[in-house]
Formats: sequence, C-alpha cells, structure tokens
Amino acid sequence: MHVPIISRLKWCLSGIAFLASLCLAQTDPGVRGGPSGAGGPVAGLSTALTAAFNLGLTNFQEVEDVSDGLGPRFNSNSCVSCHTQPAVGGTSVVRRK
Ligand code: HEC
Repeated sequence: MHVPIISRLKWCLSGIAFLASLCLAQTDPGVRGGPSGAGGPVAGLSTALTAAFNLGLTNFQEVEDVSDGLGPRFNSNSCVSCHTQPAVGGTSVVRRK
C-alpha cells in the first residue's frame, strides 16, 4: 500500500514529539530514605486473614529440600532467597532462568 511521504513524516514527527514529552515529564526522585514500609499485611485484616498471611510468610521463608519436592533442576531452595526487595515478599534482585 502506498502512503504519501508527507503523511509518513507527520506520523514520525508526532511520534518523536510524543516520546520527547514523555521523557521530559519524568524526574527520578532518587533512592527513598527511611524504612521501606513494606513486607507486612495490609491494614485491617481479620484474624483469620492475618493468620493466613503469617502462614504464607512462614512458608515463603522455608528452606525446601528433596522431601518437600525439590527436584534435580532448581535455581534456589527458598522463595525468600530471591524475593527480598525492599522486604521479604518483595521483588527479586535475582533473575529467573
Ligand atoms: C531464583 C529466584 C526466584 C525464586 C527462588 C523465586 N522467585 Fe518468584 N520471581 C522471581 C523473579 C525474577 C520474578 C519476576 C520479577 C519480580 O516480580 O520480582 C518473580 C516473580 C514472582 C511472582 C510474580 C510477582 C508479580 O508481581 O507479578 C510471584 C507471585 C512469585 N515470583 C512467587 C514466588 C514464590 C511463591 C516462590 C517460592 C515458591 C518464588 N517466587 C521463588 C525470582 C524468583
């Protein structure tokens, strides 16, 4: 299909202008100071949900072995070996393969 060069140029320039506006609108606030305020349950959980959260947190930090189902190919033996940023349960600094 033939698209006139002027039309292509308009699309290209508007794309560049759009990307430039996105870049110029961003500022990096830098590393946040103080405690992360992360890793805990959300506020207002019921007793049952708080217990479920705590059970999950314990399981998340458990070190697994063969009797727990750890097979011959694994990249770690505990969820928390990766998910630690900024607190237990957070994002991983280690990449999965
Ligand atoms: C070898 C490192 C590693 C281990 C061990 C690991 N993860 Fe992850 N996981 C990652 C990476 C990397 C990602 C993708 C980036 C991210 O969300 O941190 C991820 C993503 C996730 C996500 C999606 C997060 C989201 O916001 O979309 C969940 C849920 C998760 N992992 C749960 C677990 C659980 C549960 C375990 C333990 C049974 C576990 N992970 C063990 C590295 C790991």
